[in-house]
Amino acid sequence: MIRIRPVETDADYEAWRQVRLAALPYERAPSVAELRKAESPQRLVVLAELDGEVVAHGSSDRSNEADRAAVVARVRPEARRQGVGTALLRMLTEHAESQGYTIAGCTIDDDGSVAFAKRFGFTEFKRQVEQVREIGAEPWPVVPPEYEVIPVAERPELWAAAYEQVAIPTLPDLDTTSPMHVTPEEWATEWINEPASTFLAVVGDRVIGLAGLLLDTDKPERAEVAYTAVHPDWRGKGVASTLKRTSMAWAAEHGITEIYTWTQEGNGNMRRLNEHLGFTYRTISVNVRADLPLQFPEQLGS
Ligand SMILES: CC(C)(COP(=O)(O)OP(=O)(O)OC[C@H]1O[C@@H](n2cnc3c(N)ncnc32)[C@H](O)[C@@H]1OP(=O)(O)O)[C@@H](O)C(=O)NCCC(=O)NCCS
Repeated sequence: MIRIRPVETDADYEAWRQVRLAALPYERAPSVAELRKAESPQRLVVLAELDGEVVAHGSSDRSNEADRAAVVARVRPEARRQGVGTALLRMLTEHAESQGYTIAGCTIDDDGSVAFAKRFGFTEFKRQVEQVREIGAEPWPVVPPEYEVIPVAERPELWAAAYEQVAIPTLPDLDTTSPMHVTPEEWATEWINEPASTFLAVVGDRVIGLAGLLLDTDKPERAEVAYTAVHPDWRGKGVASTLKRTSMAWAAEHGITEIYTWTQEGNGNMRRLNEHLGFTYRTISVNVRADLPLQFPEQLGS
């Protein structure tokens, strides 16, 4: 029997994390504290049980792209093809509709899951590529005299300045189909998880660029590359590679052996910068979306 229930306790969030680690073993899973910080009245987070065992999780929330809800349904590999994904998708998209959304989107990394999503009318609209870099002996880069590079831990107040001075002017450059919308609260909680591994390029009090690493407490030997951006006035001067090389040198000194990053397939500049820094390609993920309400197969008569 399938039972879907909301996440409430820390133990529920830990169960949520374990599903994520089983479904996406190659990626960092947010901590319970990070998941708690992301709570909001419109966000629905659920666990799905099959015969009393937690086998799947889901969420339905606003997305960074203004026009659509972000829906996530993940089932542990050993519990697939028993209808759990369908039951979750139904509940999650009904929630998105109740929040006024007319489009739902999700991100998928494997062909079977694409087949599942197509069944409900999802179609591909974009791809993202994962680039991976092994960390070896990484020298600290020489920073030119025009600017300084400092960890956020040294001047924490500059993370809010980085939102105004770098994030707001650069987020429109991302290859997204509709404008990215990131609130100051999300910037403060979801775009950084360790001030010591997040680096700013600064000229006095002005932030001109940022890059860093999101650390992984489950697998401390790997880290995800955080948002990298340089103010338009400072592009073409090596600021991004200096910042990224700083992150790589920090990684080497802290026992990290692999860093990875997701980039929109259409973001040629960032992909080329990563290639230049020695990143290679691994997974491709497909962004799909569908109009709400979803058409479930019995409604289609199949
Ligand atoms: C996609 C996912 C949620 C499906 O969960 P599930 O519980 O196995 O899905 P269901 O049992 O409800 O599948 C319903 C139907 O979808 C189709 N389907 C599901 N998985 C499929 C696969 N691997 N290959 C082909 N068709 C598939 C089938 O038609 C299936 O019906 P059937 O088993 O009677 O043939 C699961 O594979 C998963 O967790 N993937 C990783 C996360 C992800 O990419 N989620 C995307 C949705 S946001």
